[in-house]
Amino acid sequence: MTKIERLGVIGGGQMGGGIAEVGARAGIDVIVCEVNAEAARAGRAKLWKSLNHAVQKGKLTEAERDETQSRLHFTTTLADLDDRHMVIEAIAEDEGLKLKLFAELDKVVADPEAILASNTSSIPIAKLAAATNRPQQVLGVHFFNPVPVLKLVELVPSLLTSEQTVERAATFATEQLGKETIRAKDRSGFIVNALLVPYLLSAIRMLEGGFASAEDIDKGMVLGCAHPMGPLRLSDLVGLDTLKAIADSLYAEYAEPTYAAPPLLQRMLDAGLKGKKSGKGFYTYDN
Ligand code: 3HC
Repeated sequence: MTKIERLGVIGGGQMGGGIAEVGARAGIDVIVCEVNAEAARAGRAKLWKSLNHAVQKGKLTEAERDETQSRLHFTTTLADLDDRHMVIEAIAEDEGLKLKLFAELDKVVADPEAILASNTSSIPIAKLAAATNRPQQVLGVHFFNPVPVLKLVELVPSLLTSEQTVERAATFATEQLGKETIRAKDRSGFIVNALLVPYLLSAIRMLEGGFASAEDIDKGMVLGCAHPMGPLRLSDLVGLDTLKAIADSLYAEYAEPTYAAPPLLQRMLDAGLKGKKSGKGFYTYDN
């Protein structure tokens, strides 16, 4: 099995940027593909800031930061990913956009052995695989936010993914990136989000019903259950738009009330409140 030496990441946002950072820090050459020059500039600035923060914290030397930066390239042209051993898509949770992207990616990436992966939280991998001519090399490789900190990667083969692809992705995640993997079937939400999202939605319903304040709901779970952060702060971190998209996918798949997004979530999005990334959600952030 060829080691992944050249990685492509599509989308340089919270997740894509984190994946690119972890890959480059592991010695892999990474190209991040963004929709336009402004997004590429913003993604690069965020990554540089994160690497400088790691230097300040003593986790990277200045020389290691410089080497990591030299392995990170940015483009707005999908065709620049032609020589990649693996491409991980990390764009917004929009099924139509992802299907189009996978069809294009399949034409662009020249190596017939290359893996085409998605960091989707909830969109069926089988649909993405079917948009390509190499469904055996398509799988879900799902990271967790913040990617440099959280150790888990969910591996999600579709009914069409080959065992060799899953093994190669597992070796990449564990031996190259130093992560731990779990394996889930191709069902919406996989393991973690299928459990996490109903919990986050319940907290929003609790707030919406006037049952308790946001601070007390979060404090309850932090101090009462030793969670690193409460559900409303975590919703803000995940992004309220992303949370809503995942909830909608889960609801479409299972049609169970536990996955139905509460009206407050939609109202907040209507008001432009997307959580930490937009500066305001259940809490206010100084980005
Ligand atoms: N990048 C790099 N490092 C970061 C970071 C980031 N974005 N955010 C925090 N860190 C590092 C800090 O530098 C610090 O490192 P140190 O211990 O070496 O000094 C460490 O993480 C702890 O950070 P802080 O002291 O600033 O703050 P906390 O102790 O409150 O930790 C947290 C912050 C790591 C975000 C922690 O609260 C946490 O793990 N929260 C839960 C996050 C979670 O559940 N994520 C999963 C979301 S679900 C998901 O992603 C799936 C998707 O499909 C929705």
